[in-house]
Amino acid sequence: MAARERTFIMIKPDGVQRGLIGKIISRFEEKGFKLVAMKFMQASNELLEKHYADLAGRPFFPGLVRYMQLGPVVPMVWEGLNIVKTGRDIIGATNPMESAPGTLRGDLCIQVGRNIIHGSDSVPSAEKEIGLWFTDEELANYSMAMDSWIYEEN
Ligand code: RTP
Ligand code: MG
Repeated sequence: MAARERTFIMIKPDGVQRGLIGKIISRFEEKGFKLVAMKFMQASNELLEKHYADLAGRPFFPGLVRYMQLGPVVPMVWEGLNIVKTGRDIIGATNPMESAPGTLRGDLCIQVGRNIIHGSDSVPSAEKEIGLWFTDEELANYSMAMDSWIYEEN
């Protein structure tokens, strides 16, 4: 079986409020990636501070944690070959003013402080983030029937 990575993707409160949940999920689904876990929840201060711990010293950190609590979020785990990098490519550059057209941020938002979606930036970050947002029991263990039409070998 080809080595499959997992990544942590989260629709931010603006993505939820703007009715973009379905559109965002479709992009990952249509690409051929496998959904492993998903929740719809209000994130706590404590969880967000852990999630964005690497950015704790940055001037925008308090505003970022506030933004992420403006409403419910949709945390997800997706799986597929090279998904961490490909997921970031689908999402686009952090600042939507620099995100290429065709990317989610390039097409669907305008400002860095309302950039609709999060994606892990490396395999170790993905592992850390998946562990923060999900328990092992919440990660579904199943195979997708169409996998042999997406991957050359299984
Ligand atoms: P994310 O973690 O949310 O996927 O975003 P990212 O990797 O593309 O960017 P990162 O540097 O990790 O920043 C996390 C989030 O903080 C907000 N931000 N605001 N005002 C600013 O200059 C600024 N810079 C970053 C954005 O919401 C960014 O996605
Ligand atoms: Mg980041």
